[in-house]
Amino acid sequence: MDHFLYRDGALYAEDVPVAEIAARVGTPFYCYSTATLTRHFRLFDEALEGTDHLVCYAMKAASNQAILKTLAGLGAGMDVVSGGEYARARAAGVPGEKIVFSGVGKTRQEMRLALEGGIRQFNVESEPEMRALSEVAMSLGTRAPITIRVNPDVDAKTHAKIATGKSENKFGIPIARAREVYAEAAALPGLEVIGIDVHIGSQLTELEPFRLAYLKVAELTETLRADGHDIRRLDLGGGLGIPYARSNEAPPLPTDYGALIKETVGHLGCEIEIEPGRLVAGNAGILVSRVIYVKEGEGRNFLILDGAMNDLIRPAMYDAHHDIVPVLEPTPGAEQTPYDIVGPVCESGDTFARGRMMPPLAEGDLVAFRGAGAYGAVMASEYNTRPLVPEVLVHEHQFAVIRARPTFDEMINRDTIPEWL
Ligand code: LLP
Repeated sequence: MDHFLYRDGALYAEDVPVAEIAARVGTPFYCYSTATLTRHFRLFDEALEGTDHLVCYAMKAASNQAILKTLAGLGAGMDVVSGGEYARARAAGVPGEKIVFSGVGKTRQEMRLALEGGIRQFNVESEPEMRALSEVAMSLGTRAPITIRVNPDVDAKTHAKIATGKSENKFGIPIARAREVYAEAAALPGLEVIGIDVHIGSQLTELEPFRLAYLKVAELTETLRADGHDIRRLDLGGGLGIPYARSNEAPPLPTDYGALIKETVGHLGCEIEIEPGRLVAGNAGILVSRVIYVKEGEGRNFLILDGAMNDLIRPAMYDAHHDIVPVLEPTPGAEQTPYDIVGPVCESGDTFARGRMMPPLAEGDLVAFRGAGAYGAVMASEYNTRPLVPEVLVHEHQFAVIRARPTFDEMINRDTIPEWL
């Protein structure tokens, strides 16, 4: 459920007509709904009610500080994967003790930044990283709290580019070697081993892979405890999928996911962390774009939009589907015709959809890409020297530009011409 609904024949974001924002901000732009962000965060929080837990929003999904502040205000922690994300979370007012640091290639500099600024834990992914972290912590006269990310060798049954839990992926340490790696970690003077971390992939549309992974984590918890480790925290990652094609997809709900967590690891008495990104932000954001031209091609019609692959790369990168709807509500029973929906960028990959059935659309009409709140704006670029797409946050009847569109001068002046030219 989200708060982008038709009202009196026009699409609204909460209580604001989308067309009104477009008139003020120009297109394309991302628009987020506070009520939807809030609702989705709370679904996770409530799903874990009764267990000691922290929902650490995977801020890579959408990291504008206004979004982070909205979620932090609801009690969210953050899952960060770079020094930049750490700094951004702190700038948005998130305290260090609510930030977990994930990622396969943390640099010593990033480790230092987080240790100095305060951190809940590092999710360590390899032995060399473990040794580096111990050294950095020692040099600062402290000990770094860690979990070790285990790779449970479970098939997440999702797109190959976003599956992470199979042994051929670069993530974590093989679960079969966990005892040996935990023994080394416990012996390193700069580390404090507190738990286990797992994350098997993103856009999972079934609970079964989670079940398999979490059962393995539960078993490992008992084994490691028997080995003398004080395992008291389990970070179970993110990955729960959203319905991108609303007419025929119904992934499991956070409530079912929460029940599964309680069922698989609830008896261990550990503090539980989860790291959802997509389900919190995905349906809380739309990308609004305007039709530049309707072009009749050979045997196909092209809808050429002012939004492009640089603004939303998911279709080009993962063959991802996004529902695309007109901002003016089509009249009931309006005839639908197939369109290839494309952007103006100079490559054929700049295609959002092929043969998509749409009601009649004309030059100047606005369309909205649904489910664009996660991995949309954060993956945008200025390819083709197209200004980085702006972001807007709606709260009831108010809206604010939370990242402005850069001017051409701002873009161009970021380059420096060397003196010999
Ligand atoms: N935790 C870790 C360690 C992760 O690597 C990820 C996502 C998450 C949590 C959040 O997963 P989520 O709940 O959002 O599924 N750009 C891709 C998605 C990449 C996901 C990377 N890791 C896309 O647009 O589909």
